[in-house]
Amino acid sequence: MSRYVLFVFFIVFSSCQKNEKDTFINSLIEKMTLEEKIGQLTQLPGGRRDSPNSRISEQTKNLIRSGKVGSFLHVMGAEFLKELQSCAVKESRLGIPLIFAMDNLHGFRTIFPVPLAWASSWDPEAVKKATRIAAEEATSAGLHWTFAPMVDIARDPRWGRIVEGAGEDPYLGSVMASAEVEGFQTDDLGRENSLVACAKHYVGYGAAIGGRDYNSVDVSLSTIYEIYLPPFHAAVNAGVGTIMSGFHDLNGIPMSVYDELLNGVLRYNWGFRGFVVSDWNAIQELLNHGVVLNRSEAAKKALEAGVDMDMTSMVYQSELPDLIQNGKVVEKLVDRAVRRILSIKYDLGLFDDPYRYCNPVREKNTILKEEFLSYARNIARKSIVLLKNEKNLLPFKKTMGNLAVIGRLATDRRSPMGAWKGFGKEEDVITVLEGIKKTVSKSTRVSFAEGYSFNDKDPMLLRETLRIAEQSDAVILVLGEHSDMSGEARSRSDIALPDEQELLADAVLALNKPVAVVLMNGRPLAIDGIAEKACAILETWYLGVRMGDAVADVLFGDYNPGGKLPVTFPRSTGQIPVYYNHYNTGRPASEDLNKDSARYFDLPIQPLYAFGYGLSYTEFKYGDLETVINGDTAFISLKIRNEGACSGEEVVQLYVRDLVARKSRPIKALKGFMKLNLNPGETKTAKFALPLNILGYYDNYLLYWVEKGAYKIMIGSSSDDIRLESTIMLEKDLSGIDQNKLGFTRVAAYADE
Ligand code: NOJ
Repeated sequence: MSRYVLFVFFIVFSSCQKNEKDTFINSLIEKMTLEEKIGQLTQLPGGRRDSPNSRISEQTKNLIRSGKVGSFLHVMGAEFLKELQSCAVKESRLGIPLIFAMDNLHGFRTIFPVPLAWASSWDPEAVKKATRIAAEEATSAGLHWTFAPMVDIARDPRWGRIVEGAGEDPYLGSVMASAEVEGFQTDDLGRENSLVACAKHYVGYGAAIGGRDYNSVDVSLSTIYEIYLPPFHAAVNAGVGTIMSGFHDLNGIPMSVYDELLNGVLRYNWGFRGFVVSDWNAIQELLNHGVVLNRSEAAKKALEAGVDMDMTSMVYQSELPDLIQNGKVVEKLVDRAVRRILSIKYDLGLFDDPYRYCNPVREKNTILKEEFLSYARNIARKSIVLLKNEKNLLPFKKTMGNLAVIGRLATDRRSPMGAWKGFGKEEDVITVLEGIKKTVSKSTRVSFAEGYSFNDKDPMLLRETLRIAEQSDAVILVLGEHSDMSGEARSRSDIALPDEQELLADAVLALNKPVAVVLMNGRPLAIDGIAEKACAILETWYLGVRMGDAVADVLFGDYNPGGKLPVTFPRSTGQIPVYYNHYNTGRPASEDLNKDSARYFDLPIQPLYAFGYGLSYTEFKYGDLETVINGDTAFISLKIRNEGACSGEEVVQLYVRDLVARKSRPIKALKGFMKLNLNPGETKTAKFALPLNILGYYDNYLLYWVEKGAYKIMIGSSSDDIRLESTIMLEKDLSGIDQNKLGFTRVAAYADE
């Protein structure tokens, strides 16, 4: 059979399937009472974050039986969910299956690095694989839907939820968003291990004023389009099934009623066909925002704006019946939302077999498989960033005589799982201390001391700690935040180390021992003092159940770190917001204090560590940059050589600056990257094919421009370590492109030997 015939067959087959689906859903909707339809729009909590299933009572089951609920969140377990599903399927009038959701951001039981950490790997394939495993585990435990990926760009590390996302850059964020959606969902929701993804929190939530969670967001719409929307667009292009609208108001309009961005951008411009779920109780909270008079108005406005499912507030349930009966809301709007929700249930295959995710044997055989755990170690190592390594202190020799491991976090089993630990259990975690002990030689004496605990500055503890440190050949000092200091509602006004950790660090570093600091934290920290005094620093974030193994692999040279920061580290809290892709201003920051420039008088002009920064145990040399424009694409190539004695990975970063435009443009913007593995002495040619139409920007009227003129191409090992530069000329304007059709473009990057 020729390819053409196959193609025609495929088109006919898929349109038949589509018709079948439409016919099925339409006829189901025709049979539904208004109450049953509203039931589909209602999501109830099945438990709390840390105690799934705990809220399911006989009363809840009666609601299911009467068709008043379409979905549960915070539930899990194949056996348990089978029973719940059977209430809907066997005991409700129409037998419409429920859809079960949970927040599995970075693992279900096998917990992987937190998203900010795995973004540091700059390895989307690795992240995709981790989300695939998360989906395999979660679906085996009866779940259909995860509230992930969290794709909010965050430029303010005071915001505790920075830990849940991919950092500050829209390009890296978009690459990660696509990878996660593809991993969770696969390309076919009909597989029994496909987990519907939910890109959240639409949109701009990460720009909360002052970094205070839930706070208002006040940023220009062009910045929303350029910085905050792209990862959502990428998720939509990757086929994400659902979107969660945020709690917040954007420029005064709460997202749950933001018609232009929901019905307009998301649906009309981008063609999103899944459903939108509100955030927890957010429809009710419209009253607090002061944009509606009562719950009835909240229901009307949210539904009209395109929020299809009400998470927990029961506003749709209590208000829509009257609104429709009184003709204040047209029933067609309810039908529209129901259709979208049923459509996802249909795609999941729940109408064919509502129990296909509820197989306890499969659950038992899937959870915590050995291969999942070994992958957890693999991706954890990739997520580590080497921030400092004076005189090549690291890697340590495994045969050292006396090694002191200091810091409460070294034995912490909870923190490595970070925020949203899914069904992760402390007993699964290998701590940093355990990892180290497993790795060093038998003759090495490892002594551990806690130093100060969190909120506890007992001088006795410190005395013992310093004694141990004093007697050691080297110290591994594990510092940072415990995991409950970042995540939802965990904003901090000061991102320095907690007081007692700072004092502990000062005391240990004053001993002048060789000290390697291992940082565990859910946000960039202002660690200026430590950065100056410690010989070596590893940023490890929270690395999941195999944290200890991964950290030891890097500390003792079994793995050469290749991670790069996905977010800038400020020198102090007062430097926030500080991000790499800022405008130049009329008076760019100058080192010279005699010049009046855009800087703080009492701080150096650079951040502590820049976006894209990260060291390796080897050195890479860049050269031979060539750029040529052919048609609508710039072809960029360069050579990169491993000059050191061990093999290693380097992330080659491509930045672009539009030199003159009708609006100021960022001094650099990431447009592509590639991770390369090079043996000692090996050279590779890295190539990028950069489509010129993605070099544009939105003006303040939201028109998309790609103007002719000069664009600077910068190739770097970090945003502040540009190794090669060149300028390309765009001979003609490409403006007028429909950016909505363009969507997110992953820049092609590949390497030749
Ligand atoms: C509120 C959070 O903002 C959201 O991210 C989460 O998915 C829901 N709660 C459900 O747990």
